[in-house]
Amino acid sequence: MSSRNEAAKQLEKWKIQNEEKIGFATNSAGIPIVNAKTSLTIGKNGRIPLQDWQLIEHLSHFNRERIPERVVHAKGAGAFGYFECTKELSAYTVSKVFEAVDKRTSIAVRFSVVAGNLGSADTVRDPRGFALKFYTDEGIWDLVGNNTPIFFMRDPILFPMFIHSQKRNPVTNLRDWDAFWDYISLTPMSVHQVMFLFSDRGIPKSYRHQHGFGSHTFSLINKDRKLTWCKFIYKTDQGIENLDPEEAEKIAGRDPDYAVRDLYESISEVDGYIKKYPSWTFYVQLMTPEQAKLQKFNPFDITKVWPHKEFPLIEVGRFVLNRNASNNFAEIEQLAFSPNNLTPGVGASPDRLLQGRLFAYQDAHRYRLGANFQQIPVNKPINLTNNFQRDGFMCSFNQGGAPNYYPNSFGGPNSDPFAESWTPPPEYVAGFENYYPEFYEEDNYSQPRVFWEQVLDEGAKNRLVHNLAGAIKLANRTIQERIVDVFNNVSDDLGVRLKELVFNDAKIIQF
Ligand code: NDP
Ligand code: HEM
Repeated sequence: MSSRNEAAKQLEKWKIQNEEKIGFATNSAGIPIVNAKTSLTIGKNGRIPLQDWQLIEHLSHFNRERIPERVVHAKGAGAFGYFECTKELSAYTVSKVFEAVDKRTSIAVRFSVVAGNLGSADTVRDPRGFALKFYTDEGIWDLVGNNTPIFFMRDPILFPMFIHSQKRNPVTNLRDWDAFWDYISLTPMSVHQVMFLFSDRGIPKSYRHQHGFGSHTFSLINKDRKLTWCKFIYKTDQGIENLDPEEAEKIAGRDPDYAVRDLYESISEVDGYIKKYPSWTFYVQLMTPEQAKLQKFNPFDITKVWPHKEFPLIEVGRFVLNRNASNNFAEIEQLAFSPNNLTPGVGASPDRLLQGRLFAYQDAHRYRLGANFQQIPVNKPINLTNNFQRDGFMCSFNQGGAPNYYPNSFGGPNSDPFAESWTPPPEYVAGFENYYPEFYEEDNYSQPRVFWEQVLDEGAKNRLVHNLAGAIKLANRTIQERIVDVFNNVSDDLGVRLKELVFNDAKIIQF
C-alpha cells in the first residue's frame, strides 16, 4: 500500500472541485445548524435540554447508519462503465444490448469475496463474485456471475447448508475446517469447483486480473420466438494473474482492502491523465435445443462446463469500467442484483440452481434494503416503470394518479403488445412430482478428471495438491480419509499424491 495514492487524496480532490459550492451546514430538513461541534446546554457546565433537536437527530441517525450486510458476498467493490456490442446477435436474440455493432449500454459492476464479513481480507482463497447490471432500453438485466464457470452444487436446497459450512462456527465464532471438509466430502458434486478453488486461480491478484462467467445456462429468444441455449463469459483484457498463497497472506495483514484499493486506483484520474481503464472481452457459447438433447452431460447442470471444442466462444462485445462511485454506500452497498431481472431476448433455463436464484435475491433485497429497493437510483431502470405496485417504506416514486388496479378503463397501462414476439416458445412439460436423489450423484467426476489430466501442467498440479493438503490437514482424521477418497475418484494419480501429503508429510503446508 503506497502512502499517498489516488484513494488517499479523495478528500483533497473533493475540496478543490467543490470549493465554490460548499454552503453552510443544515440538518436533513435544510434548516441551518447553529453550531456543528457544540451541544446546547443550560449553563456552561449544565445539562442538555430535550430541545437540542440538532444533537438528537445527529445521534439517532448515526444509530441507524448500518444496514444488514449481504448474507454472502458482503465484502466487495464496484464501479461503473459501459458495454459495447461488437457483433450483433439478432439471429438469436431481440436483446437491445446486442442489437447493433457499437451499441453501448451503461453498466454497473460489483466484485466480491463470498464467505467473509464486511471487514474481511480481500486476498483469501474464495471464489470472487462478478455481477453485472445492464441499464438497457427495456429494463435492468442483471448477470450475477462469479469468476468460475461452475459452482459447488446443482440444487438450491444445498446453498444455505454449503454456506453455513464456510461461515463461522456458531460456538467458537471461528472458521471451522471440519465443517468445510465434512460438507464437501459428503457432496462430491462440489469437487470440480473445489479443484478450481485450490488451483492457482483460487487467489486472483486483483478483481481486474480474472475472468467472469454468468455460469448458468440461459436462453436467448429471437423475433420468431426461436430459442437458443446460451452461456455468457467475460475474459479479462488485463490477463490472468494470481497471488502466491504466502504473499496473499502477507497482504491480508498489510492491506486487507487490497483489491478494493486496486480497483479504485485503476479507474481514478491522475492529474487529468486517464489510465487504461480495466476491460473485459465478452463471449457467448451457443447450443441449440436439438444439440442439448444429444449431449452426454446435462447442459443445465451448473457443476459442469460446456466443452470449448464443441461449443466455441463467440466474441460479441467488451465492457470497460471508467467511473468510480461518487459515494460507496449510495451506489455500491445499495446495489441490488437479481438473477430474475432478465430483459426481452434473454431468459432462464431448466438449470435447477438458477430456478432457486430467481427467487432468492429479490427476497434478500426486500430484507436488506426494503420493499422499494428498485427505486434507489442505482437500481432504477433508465426507462419508465409502469405497474400496479404502490406504497411501502421509503417510496419515492408512487406513480402519481395512474390507476393502481387492472383491468381499468383509464388507459391501462396495458401489457406490451409486442411481448408475444419474444416470449419463449411454448414448452410442453410433464413428469411425476417426486424427489429424485439420483440428481445428487449425476456424473460428478468426468469433468474434474479432464481438468486434472488435460488442463493443469505438472507445476499447477503440484501446487493444487499442496494447497489442498494444507487445508485438509486442518480437519479430523475421519473427514480427511473421506475427502481424500473423493479426490481419488477424480484420478488415482491425484488421490495418491494427496494421500502422501496429507498422511505422510509432516511439513506445514501453505494453503
Ligand atoms: P479447454 O481445454 O479448451 O481449455 C481449458 C480451460 O481451462 C481454459 O478456459 C482455461 O482458461 C481454463 N483454466 C486453465 N487453468 C485453470 C484453472 N486453474 N482454473 C480454472 N480454469 C482454468 O477446455 P474444455 O472446454 O475442453 O474443458 C476442459 C476442462 O477445462 C473442463 O473439464 C473444465 O474443468 C476446464 N474449464 C473449462 C471451461 C469451459 O468453459 N469449457 C472454462 C474453464 C475451465 P484460459 O483460457 O483463461 O487459459
Ligand atoms: C449474492 C443467494 C448461487 C453469485 C447472493 C445473496 C444471496 C445469494 C441471498 C445476497 C444478495 C444481497 O443481499 O444483495 C444465492 C443462492 C444461490 C446462489 C440461494 C443458489 C441457489 C450463486 C451462484 C453465483 C452467485 C451460482 C454465481 C454464478 C452471487 C454474487 C453475489 C451473490 C456475485 C453478490 C452480488 C452483489 O455484488 O451484490 N447470493 N446465491 N450466487 N451471489 Fe448468490
